[in-house]
Amino acid sequence: MGVEIKIEHLTKSFGRQTIWGDVSFTLPAGEISVMLGPSGTGKSVLLKTLIGLLKPDHGSVMIEGTDIAACSRAELYEIRQLFGVLFQDGAMFGSMSLYDNVAFPLREHTNKGETEIRGIVMEKMELVGLLGAETKLPGEISGGMRKRAGLARALVLDPEVLLIDEPDSGLDPVRTSFINQLFVDLNAQIDATFLIVTHDIHTARTVPDNIGLLYHRHLAMFGPREMLLSSEEPVVRQFLNAQRVGPIGMSEEKDADELAAEVGMDLPPLPPIPLQLEPSNGIPRRSQRRPGEWCRQNGIVPPPGSFTDSISPSAVGV
Ligand SMILES: Nc1ncnc2c1ncn2[C@@H]1O[C@H](COP(=O)(O)OP(=O)(O)OP(=O)(O)O)[C@@H](O)[C@H]1O
Ligand SMILES: [Mg+2]
Repeated sequence: MGVEIKIEHLTKSFGRQTIWGDVSFTLPAGEISVMLGPSGTGKSVLLKTLIGLLKPDHGSVMIEGTDIAACSRAELYEIRQLFGVLFQDGAMFGSMSLYDNVAFPLREHTNKGETEIRGIVMEKMELVGLLGAETKLPGEISGGMRKRAGLARALVLDPEVLLIDEPDSGLDPVRTSFINQLFVDLNAQIDATFLIVTHDIHTARTVPDNIGLLYHRHLAMFGPREMLLSSEEPVVRQFLNAQRVGPIGMSEEKDADELAAEVGMDLPPLPPIPLQLEPSNGIPRRSQRRPGEWCRQNGIVPPPGSFTDSISPSAVGV
């Protein structure tokens, strides 16, 4: 279970606006990766390109020997069944109950009878904490509930790949913690490959095996969590530590005057690297590594206080 997705030299533009160019990275099979980036840098466009809803101008998205960017409609229909997707807006059918929304992929893609479908739908509704809300319409529930219903729908076909766009926007902090734990537990249990887009720095620092950062029309960096959390690269450092000082400004890039004003300013020291969130179901992650292993192997001294369980989110300014 869990498949690798290899993205090479991907470029996407709309008209004359290049969204990002020459994006290459690999989502390792069965691992959790997080994609970060300022608003408007094309994270949602990237997810849609990975499932073939948008066609790139150049490049390939290889999954199990098929290039999603170039395959036929029939191949795309087949390959999409490997995916579970949670779109940023939830993408629910407004006139269908939550139950029917969640059951939709099962009715569309399988021959299962209604009794079996009911079992699966209720199991997934329970997993995301929505038991009792099955008969509600999407317009009658909160944004956070819609997100969780979208997640239940993304899970019903037991996907090999889960693409999840901002699961935590509109969720309260407690539910965000529950959802993060759910991702880590699910990943250990079903071994699916995850790509999560988030703006939540605490999620990005603790949940994934790998982190990527889109910035200024390119992929600034993608690699193991410890690599990005110990990186001194200005954009990565600024974003992952939620700092104002650095190349990113209010409207994405700072201008020369703003940057010049920062010359000589002391950057706060890198905060400690937190422990990775562990599965609560006793199953190890497929990619389980010892804390600090990447740093040791690469001769990087992690910031003082790293890999202890006493780091609070406030240590990274969130
Ligand atoms: N179908 C489309 N046609 C034209 N332009 C589009 C289309 N979809 C997205 N864009 C443009 O692509 C850019 C990236 O959009 P995208 O939604 O991927 O950003 P994002 O990184 O997901 O932002 P956010 O963090 O706010 O969700 C934006 O400038 C947007 O206007
Ligand atoms: Mg988006």
